Amino acid sequence: MIRKYWISIFVGAFLFYIAPYRADAYTPVYAEQGMVAGPEPLAVQIGVDILKKGGNAFDAAAAVGFALAVTYPSAGNLGGGGFMTAVKDTQEPLFLDFRETAPLAASSDMYLDKDGNIIPGLSTSSLLAVGVPGTVHGLLTMFSDHGAMNRSDILDPAIQLAESGFHVSYSLHASLQANQDRLSAYPSTKRIFFSHESAPHFNSILRQPDLAWTLKKLRDEGAQAFYEGEVAEKLVNYMKNNGGIITREDLTAYRSKYRTPILFDYKDNTIVAPNLPSSGGITLAQILKLIEPHPMREIGRNSAEYIHILTEAERLAFADRNYFLGDRDFIRAPVDRLMSGDYLDARREQIPKYKAGSSERISHGRIESEETTHFCIVDRNRNAVAITYTLNESYGMKAVVEGAGFFLNNEMDDFNAKPGYPNVYGLVEGDANAIQPEKRMLSSMTPVIVLKDGKFAFTVGTPGGPTIITTAAQIIVNMLDFGMNIRDAIDAPRFHHQGLPDFIRFEREAFSYDTLKLLVGMGYTLKESGPIGFAAGIQQMDNHLLAGYADGRGEGSAAGY
Ligand code: GLY
Repeated sequence: MIRKYWISIFVGAFLFYIAPYRADAYTPVYAEQGMVAGPEPLAVQIGVDILKKGGNAFDAAAAVGFALAVTYPSAGNLGGGGFMTAVKDTQEPLFLDFRETAPLAASSDMYLDKDGNIIPGLSTSSLLAVGVPGTVHGLLTMFSDHGAMNRSDILDPAIQLAESGFHVSYSLHASLQANQDRLSAYPSTKRIFFSHESAPHFNSILRQPDLAWTLKKLRDEGAQAFYEGEVAEKLVNYMKNNGGIITREDLTAYRSKYRTPILFDYKDNTIVAPNLPSSGGITLAQILKLIEPHPMREIGRNSAEYIHILTEAERLAFADRNYFLGDRDFIRAPVDRLMSGDYLDARREQIPKYKAGSSERISHGRIESEETTHFCIVDRNRNAVAITYTLNESYGMKAVVEGAGFFLNNEMDDFNAKPGYPNVYGLVEGDANAIQPEKRMLSSMTPVIVLKDGKFAFTVGTPGGPTIITTAAQIIVNMLDFGMNIRDAIDAPRFHHQGLPDFIRFEREAFSYDTLKLLVGMGYTLKESGPIGFAAGIQQMDNHLLAGYADGRGEGSAAGY
């Protein structure tokens, strides 16, 4: 008894000693007026230049979005889609959905053969994989509604990069080289990126004149050029000549849409996150609300118990995600119920103590109902814009539109092609995410803005399919439970669980062997992986400075002035 007493005093004192976290352990980039953080330094600098010239966060976001289509072609795009969350002045937070839509000719069985079996590759590597692109509509709608500059101010820098070219970074060289076989299968792609039969060398100049032509059309004619004008014509011709189904009617009908963002409180902060058709906000809310009553500081960051609690919250949240969620313009998704206190209290009861749960036994709750990219910007008035957009897989379905120079997405794979059949991310979903003409495929993209007492506190986001949500959750916990700064919160080791497949994926060297042994003892299957996510974030410091950081896992950057 006495021995137990002394052990608990000792452990208590030790915890007390290690619990406080030195928020300035590793230094992010600091600036006073404005900050941009994202996956590629040339585009980030364009954003900073726009802010310096007097543009606001929305101007800078549009310029960065278009520049990334040139300098970061694996995920930056004109031919994909995405989401923006933003806070502006004292207005309500904003959420703009520019997710792709299924073409009018799409159908729920379009990827199945006559026996009802999936035809491999059709939803990822054929022209049938392409959703009607939303990026151009989204970026230009955001810009015309909230920007303060001229269209040429935000498009000229991208045009310059496409026309005069830029020095190829090592990561772009390596990424093109790794995808060479699949990319060069399309003559339109090969001509731009592999004209010398190999990927452009590190530091060589890459010029993209066709893309420059498209960007000039956007500058001179606006989104109309892309959805009705000459760019639309090239896209539709490419579809017709290569077995695609996107028509002029599809493009003319496309609209980005403002929707109400998901708002919820976590540790006295308000989180602003995407609503459907992204599952990001709802699933993030469920994960964080499920763990909120647990004293995470005492439990210890990345201890076996911490990983267990977060994993079980993720398992429950992904079961709901995969069953209930889809495009709310087409289905009735019980969003309020899924985030309500009594529902989550009941779900929390299902978390076993110190023991792995089972994704076979856990299903959705009973209720009465490489690659994406992320960047964020904060300006001198503390307007904040966070955008995650994507082609789905790296370089989408790998084809560039002939004469227009931009990659097409393969976002249709984010639909549920057949109940019980996993998509490229291993997600197994239900009817709520079945294909219907003009419906938007369920996403995991989660650009997040966090407010404290109604004011901007920090913003963060990442690529990574379903790991986007669990990465965002871990970064938020690192910052709000453990008081880490944006750099440390982003660089900290990560893990991921999404219900099915039923294993914890953890970054190589992330956890001690002892921790892993404890998890195996609880019944978990573990799988070591490479980096999870490639986050970027900006934090408001107490001293009025902004702190920015792009994940140490990649070649991104943060810069400010
Ligand atoms: N394409 C991945 C996602 O939207 O979640």
